[in-house]
Amino acid sequence: MEKLDRPYFDLENPAHLKTLDSLSLDVLINTAAYNDVDKAEEEIGEAFRLNSEAPSRLAGYCRKKDILFITFSTDYVFGEYEEKREFRMPFQETDEARPLSVYGVSKWAGECMVLNRNPDALVIRTCGLYGRHRGTHLKRNFVELMLQLGRGDKTLRVVSDQIVTPTSTWDLSQNTYKLIQCSPKGGLYHMTNEGECSWFEFAETIFNMVKLAPDVRAVLQSEYGAKARRPSYSVLSKEKVGKYGIHFQTWEKALSDYLSTSSVKP
Ligand SMILES: NC(=O)c1ccc[n+]([C@@H]2O[C@H](COP(=O)([O-])OP(=O)(O)OC[C@H]3O[C@@H](n4cnc5c(N)ncnc54)[C@H](OP(=O)(O)O)[C@@H]3O)[C@@H](O)[C@H]2O)c1
Repeated sequence: MEKLDRPYFDLENPAHLKTLDSLSLDVLINTAAYNDVDKAEEEIGEAFRLNSEAPSRLAGYCRKKDILFITFSTDYVFGEYEEKREFRMPFQETDEARPLSVYGVSKWAGECMVLNRNPDALVIRTCGLYGRHRGTHLKRNFVELMLQLGRGDKTLRVVSDQIVTPTSTWDLSQNTYKLIQCSPKGGLYHMTNEGECSWFEFAETIFNMVKLAPDVRAVLQSEYGAKARRPSYSVLSKEKVGKYGIHFQTWEKALSDYLSTSSVKP
């Protein structure tokens, strides 16, 4: 397995595609993205270059070279669907995307461009990722951030009116591998851990599991004041991957596994 990083492989530089010629690839997996959801509201060009144009170029390259192309997308392609939130009906791959943010639009455009150029590609939508980082710096995912802040003495404000599914990158990568082995048809696939919670409930569960008791206050998305709008309910249905025999464990179990090996311990 080859891992391609900057500066040797800059996704914004089309000339770097040549780097791929020297590798003998069966599968190319793109995990890179412009994923600062709030900053994307201003850095629109950059978000589209990285989330739409770059994956589309990779998809075209893979089509020509007969390489399976896989890229990741997001629950933020969905917007407000009152009935889904009210009746807790997870989104299917066939539901219409209605993104609320520049990030969401750029990822949705990326999905369409990838599948238009390469209908055999797999576009995997996921949600609320946290996991181990192989690099030297520790990327502050939500769990690590809560563990760090939870040891301080400040009151934490966590959003309670956005329902998501926290997802372990370990589980996601294991099940992506399983999906590849099933040789599925090209298209959209939803993959997250099982279950749902608000960010506030996620934070509370983290603190309960590690026996920390910081002062945590539930706030509404409108009070929190983030620049970009997020959907209030963006749980993804895993029915489609379930037909391939792919099943995820609950987010609570995945979190407990992660915390038992996390490098940032209280
Ligand atoms: N995080 C979530 O909660 C979440 C939720 C739903 C979907 N997703 C999707 O899942 C995928 C992974 O997200 P993530 O949050 O795990 O990402 P991440 O850890 O932030 O990784 C993104 C990577 O993209 C790389 N990158 C950025 N610009 C690049 C460029 N021009 N050329 C090459 N590499 C570049 C970054 O490299 P540097 O380290 O060099 O900056 C970084 O390693 C993305 O498609 C994202 O949209 C994420």
